[in-house]
Amino acid sequence: MPRTLIVHYSRSGHTARLANVLAEELRQRGHEVVTEAICAEREWGKWLLPIPLLPLLPVLPLYLASSRFRRFWHRHYYQPQQAIRPLVNPDVSGFDLVLVGTPKWLYPSYPVARWLDTVRGLQGRRMASFATFCGPPLEVFEIEMLFEPLEACLRSRGSVPVGRLAISSDHHEYFFFNEMRGLFRWLSRKAFGRPLADFTLDGEIGQAQIKRFGDEIDDAMCRARPG
Ligand SMILES: Cc1cc2nc3c(=O)[nH]c(=O)nc-3n(C[C@H](O)[C@H](O)[C@H](O)COP(=O)(O)O)c2cc1C
Repeated sequence: MPRTLIVHYSRSGHTARLANVLAEELRQRGHEVVTEAICAEREWGKWLLPIPLLPLLPVLPLYLASSRFRRFWHRHYYQPQQAIRPLVNPDVSGFDLVLVGTPKWLYPSYPVARWLDTVRGLQGRRMASFATFCGPPLEVFEIEMLFEPLEACLRSRGSVPVGRLAISSDHHEYFFFNEMRGLFRWLSRKAFGRPLADFTLDGEIGQAQIKRFGDEIDDAMCRARPG
């Protein structure tokens, strides 16, 4: 029975809900699951949060157009961090598998970036990452922008990424009248011909993604088993 830690940060509850669903899914698959919520020492105000992300804006067209530029950007961009409260599991070396969950704040959220810098025992650890973001699973703007830097960071700490899961929350704090959510709902229809609701935790594709993620993890754990 794999010993699995599911750790997450959530500002408005969506990633927390996904973490609970994953805990249930993995328990049903025979994992012994321990959960931990990362808590920010102090939550930042809504209008302060995006300020460190602004450097991407002027180069966003280039970022979207060029995979070479994206590789460059992911190596050099500034990843903000936020102070977090002391961890219940500061050393994860006792776990066979660690799942880390974050909301997408363009990149991994700031408290999760701090967790990655703080936690011990990542060396040799199998890790899977999961995230919520407002939009549909746009390959470059959502998936690559979030998971490439996150998994590069995991690898640089010696851990082995074995899976990723992205679920839409259909929720965005910006700007005044849900303009960002409106934009992502429109993009979902335009890019996928489907309503954004399909990609949420309660949607058809969201549900299928949970199962696929569980299978991906189980395969990786089977391959890791000696003999
Ligand atoms: C600073 C900031 C940046 C965000 N960037 C994105 C983004 O790039 N793409 C996206 O779809 N949603 C983005 N969102 C929306 C969140 O990812 C989304 O609401 C998420 O599901 C919130 O998770 P939580 O409820 O666990 O905090 C952003 C939100 C914040 C606060």
